[in-house]
Amino acid sequence: MSDFLSNLHPSTERIDEERQRIEIELLLEGIYRMYGNDFRDYAYDSICRRITHATKQQGLPSVTALLERVLHDPDSMELLLRSLTINVTEMFRTPSLFQTFRTKVVPFLHTYPSIRIWHAGCSTGEEVLSMSILLQEEGLYEKARIYATDIDQEALEQAQSGRVLIGSMQQYTNNYMMSGGTGSFSDYYSVNSEDGNKVTFNRSLLDHVIFAGHNLVTDQSFNEFHVIFCRNVMIYFNRKLQQRVHSLFHDSLAQFGVLAIGERETIRFSGFEQYYEQISESERLYTKIK
Ligand SMILES: C[S@@+](CC[C@H](N)C(=O)[O-])C[C@H]1O[C@@H](n2cnc3c(N)ncnc32)[C@H](O)[C@@H]1O
Repeated sequence: MSDFLSNLHPSTERIDEERQRIEIELLLEGIYRMYGNDFRDYAYDSICRRITHATKQQGLPSVTALLERVLHDPDSMELLLRSLTINVTEMFRTPSLFQTFRTKVVPFLHTYPSIRIWHAGCSTGEEVLSMSILLQEEGLYEKARIYATDIDQEALEQAQSGRVLIGSMQQYTNNYMMSGGTGSFSDYYSVNSEDGNKVTFNRSLLDHVIFAGHNLVTDQSFNEFHVIFCRNVMIYFNRKLQQRVHSLFHDSLAQFGVLAIGERETIRFSGFEQYYEQISESERLYTKIK
């Protein structure tokens, strides 16, 4: 008899929670075995919320019903995938990070003849456009190659278009100014002629960017980088998966390479904290020392 059942009087609430956990783990196992998408080590509370939402969205009574549907219907799986990845992003998100990057990392990047930067989990590309603008203003863009990766193909296609909703531009202009931007933000884009709700960023900002599918759960390192940005991605992973990704980044960074993670993420407990020195703890910016 399982530990759970041997507990003589589990509360109804506890039984419900345990049932839900079993259903979710079976769903994630089913998705992995049927489609190869591995969400088994994503942070439980967050994936649980998204699955509950997707179950309602697909008009189903339970997570088990969702499992049955996705096993038989790839379209339903596509829909579920859209709910499982969170694409929220913005240009110059956390402006102070970009400002610190300008003052503390740019001088170091000037010492290299060429630089490689990896944006892991780049979503719809706003972070990448921000980096291209920063590098252009700091005279580093011509010698830079930016690798922008994500598991979400639709997000990558949007990123490649260089288009952004016009409604976000006021906020992005403010972010740009707070991040230490040295030009005029409006010089970097024009209103899209086919779709007036969007602006199109100057093509040159994507000339040095290579977009590709890459899964941090299952894929390996593919180059050696001077900078890795992986912000607001590991927050959705459990401790074990965060450790795997930190190992991947440690393998992928050059000596004294720079790692940027999200403001609500931590390098502590990753098992790799001793391999880095802080550039700025408050901005979650580190340099690899060994
Ligand atoms: C919240 S967005 C963060 C975007 C950007 N880095 C930022 O901070 O604004 C998280 C992104 O991580 C991507 N992602 C989730 N799991 C991933 C994985 N296993 N491998 C690569 N990307 C992943 C999602 O598709 C999503 O685009």
